[in-house]
Amino acid sequence: MKAAVMRATDAPLVIEDVHIDDPGPGEVLLKTAASGICHSDLHVMEGSLPVPPPCILGHEPAGVVEAVGEGVTDFRPGDHVIGCLTSFCGVCNYCTAGRPYLCLAQFEGRPPGAKPRLSASNGDTIDQFANLSSFAEKMLCPQRSLVKIRDDMPLDRASLIGCGVTTGLGAALNTVHIRAGASVVIIGCGGVGLAALQGARIVGAGKIIAVDAQPWKFDLAKKFGATDCIDATVGDAVAAVHDLTGGGADFVFECIGLIPTVQQAVAMTARGGTTVLVGVVPMADTVPINASDLTLQEKTITGSYMGSNRFRFDMPKYVDFYLDGRLFLDEMISSRIALNDINEAFDRMRKGEAARQVIVYD
Ligand SMILES: NC(=O)c1ccc[n+]([C@@H]2O[C@H](COP(=O)([O-])OP(=O)(O)OC[C@H]3O[C@@H](n4cnc5c(N)ncnc54)[C@H](O)[C@@H]3O)[C@@H](O)[C@H]2O)c1
Ligand SMILES: [Zn+2]
Ligand SMILES: [Zn+2]
Repeated sequence: MKAAVMRATDAPLVIEDVHIDDPGPGEVLLKTAASGICHSDLHVMEGSLPVPPPCILGHEPAGVVEAVGEGVTDFRPGDHVIGCLTSFCGVCNYCTAGRPYLCLAQFEGRPPGAKPRLSASNGDTIDQFANLSSFAEKMLCPQRSLVKIRDDMPLDRASLIGCGVTTGLGAALNTVHIRAGASVVIIGCGGVGLAALQGARIVGAGKIIAVDAQPWKFDLAKKFGATDCIDATVGDAVAAVHDLTGGGADFVFECIGLIPTVQQAVAMTARGGTTVLVGVVPMADTVPINASDLTLQEKTITGSYMGSNRFRFDMPKYVDFYLDGRLFLDEMISSRIALNDINEAFDRMRKGEAARQVIVYD
C-alpha cells in the first residue's frame, strides 16, 4: 500500500510502498477512506513533539473495516469507523473511573518481539503513530482505537471527528462546564479552535469571541457562532477582550500552542474564570505565569487532552450532531487532497492558509 513516511525530522514526508501485516488478535484492518491533517502531525514533523522516525503519521481517520483478527467482537467487515488516538485498556484506574482518555496503556502497540504492523519494502520496521497511522491507504488498529458509526455519515467529514472536532468540542462540552450565557474566547481558529467555538455555541454560551492572526478565518468563525472577532495582528487583543466582556471572559480556550498566546489567554480570563489550554506548546518549553493572578483573582488554568473524550460514547453523538444540522463540518473542510499532495498541505498549514485539509483515498 502507499503511505507517507516520516523518514527524518524537519523534512518532507516520503511517499513509499509499505507492507501492512494481517490483523492479529484484537486487531482490525481498515481501508482508510479519509484522514484530516492536524497541527499535531506538524508538531511531530518539526520535532516539538518528539517521535523518532521512521514513522507514519496521521491520526484523524475514518475508514471501512476489511478484516478482523482473532477475538474481535466489536467490528465486522464493512463497518464504517472513526479512529481515535486515545486507545483504552478498559481495566486501569483511569478507564474504570471514567477518564479513558488518560489510560496509560494507550500507546502500547503490539507486544515486544511481535512482528511489526508496518514495514518498509526492505523489511525494516516503520513505527505506527498512536496505533493509527492514517497517512496510508490501509490501517491496522487495535479494536479499542476504533468506534463504529452510522453508514449514512459521509466518511470525509467523519474523519474530522477523529481528532480536531473531538478535541475542540470536547474541551467545551467535557473538560469544563460552560453555563448558558457565559462569555467565551477562542484563540486560534484552526480545526481545533473552530470546533471549540461550535461547542461553545451548542452549550448556549453568550458572547463568543474568536481571535486569530488570519482575518479570513472570521467569516467561518461567524458562521459557526462567533459574536465578535479580534484580529490578533492589530492592536492589543487582551484589551479588546476586556472591552468586549467588561473585564475578561468566563472561559478562554487557547487553541494554538504558543507561549505568548497562552499568556494572553490567562490575561483575557475574568476573575474567577477558567483558561483552557488545548494547543500543544513544544514539550521542552515552559510558560511563565503570574501566580498571584491565580490566587488573588481565583483564576483556574486547566489542560484539555483530546477533548477529555470517551470516544465510543462521544463520537457517534457528534455524528448525530452533524446529521441533525447542529454541528457544521462541510464548511470546515478547506480542501480535499490526494496523499501525494500531503507536503503542500503542510506548507499551507504553516502559513495559516487552511481551516481543515482532508486526504481522501480512492
Ligand atoms: N489538546 C489536545 O489533545 C490536542 C489535540 C489536537 C490538536 N492539538 C493542538 O491544538 C493546536 C491547534 O491545532 P489545529 O490543527 O487547529 O492547528 P491549525 O494550524 O489548523 O490552527 C491554528 C490557528 O492559529 C492561528 N494562529 C497562529 N498563530 C497565531 C497567533 N500568534 N495569534 C493568533 N492566531 C494565531 C492560525 O491562523 C490558525 O488559524 C495545535 O497546537 C495542536 O497540536 C491539541
Ligand atoms: Zn490531532
Ligand atoms: Zn486503561
